[in-house]
Amino acid sequence: MHLAILVFEQEDNNLLPGTKMLVKRARANKHTVSVLKEREVYIVFNDNKHSLHKNGKPIKHFDAVIVRPSFKSDPSIHASLIRQFELEGQLVINTHSAVHRAKNKVRTLQLLHHYDIPMPRTVIIFDSDVLDKVMGEFKYPVVVKSAYGAGGSGVFIAETKRSLKPVVEHLLRKREGVREPIKIQEYIAESKGKDLRLFVVGKRVVATMQRSAQKGDFRSNFHKGGSVKGVEPTEEEREMAVRASLNLGLDVSGVDILRTKKGPVIIEINSQPGLEGITQATGVDVAGEIVEYVERRVRRRKKKLREVKERKKATEG
Ligand SMILES: Nc1ncnc2c1ncn2[C@@H]1O[C@H](COP(=O)(O)OP(=O)(O)O)[C@@H](O)[C@H]1O
Ligand SMILES: [Mg+2]
Repeated sequence: MHLAILVFEQEDNNLLPGTKMLVKRARANKHTVSVLKEREVYIVFNDNKHSLHKNGKPIKHFDAVIVRPSFKSDPSIHASLIRQFELEGQLVINTHSAVHRAKNKVRTLQLLHHYDIPMPRTVIIFDSDVLDKVMGEFKYPVVVKSAYGAGGSGVFIAETKRSLKPVVEHLLRKREGVREPIKIQEYIAESKGKDLRLFVVGKRVVATMQRSAQKGDFRSNFHKGGSVKGVEPTEEEREMAVRASLNLGLDVSGVDILRTKKGPVIIEINSQPGLEGITQATGVDVAGEIVEYVERRVRRRKKKLREVKERKKATEG
C-alpha cells in the first residue's frame, strides 16, 4: 500500500516519536510511507480536480492518509485541510469531523453527555462574570481546563476560591481578539493522581495503561513525567471507551478514564494518542495494530469500489 501520514504544527524536521513508530511499522509491512506536513501542503482551487499540492506538484492518491493531528489551537481550519483530502476521495483515518469533535473539548463533553457516557461534573463558561453563579456546583479543589489543551498543559487545580479567580481570568483573556471558553470540573480526589489510558483501534481496546502523576502533581500525563504500567481494564471501562470513540467517529483514539467512587468516568478522548508510553507500558505493538487496521480498511474499500463498478457494468450491459 501507499500510505501518507499527515502531521501538523511540525516546525522542524524531527518527527514526533509516534509518527516515527508508525512510519517504521508500516515500512516493515512493505508499505511505502510519505510524511506530509501541514506547512508544506497547499490547496489550489482551479479547474483541475487535484486541489492538494506539495513542492509544485499535485499530491498523489494514497491508499490511506493517517492523520496525526498534533495541533493545540482552534481545530476548524486544520480540520478543513483534512476535509480536503476526503473531498479528493482519499481514505482518511481519523476523519476531519472526528478530529474536530475530539479537539474541541466542549464538543467532546457535549457528545458524551448526549450519549449518556459518564464524565465528571463540568461547567463551561465564556466569561468570568458568571463564576460566582456556577461555583455552587462544586466543592474545592476544582480542576480548570483550557479549551484546546493537550498533554496536561492547560489543566490546572485551584485549592480555594482565592486561587481560582486569577486562573479563570487569565485563561479567559482574549487571545488575538478571540475569547475561548474554559471548563471547570469537579476534582476526582479518589483517583489519587492516577488515570487509565485505553487505546482504541476500530471497535477494540488494544492496550491499556495506568498512569500515575509524579510526586507533587495531580496530572498523570506521560509527557508530564507520569509513570506508566500496563493494566487490564474492566468490561465496563472497555465498553465505555469503545462507545465514546465510535460516537465521536474516531477510528483510532486514546480514551482517558478516572476511577471514581461512582464508577469510571471519561475525562477526554484523544484523536492523536501517543504511541511511545503505551508501547513501553504494555508491550503491545500499537503501531502495528494501527497499520493492520488501515490494511483492513483499505481492503474493504477496494472491495466495495470493485462491487460498485461491477454493478454499474451489469446495469449498463
Ligand atoms: N477532574 C479531574 N480530577 C482529577 N484529576 C484530573 C481531572 N481532570 C484531569 N485530571 C488529571 O489531569 C490529567 C490531564 O487532564 P486531561 O483532561 O486528560 O487533559 P490533557 O488533554 O491535557 O491530557 C489527567 O490525565 C488526570 O491525571
Ligand atoms: Mg489527557
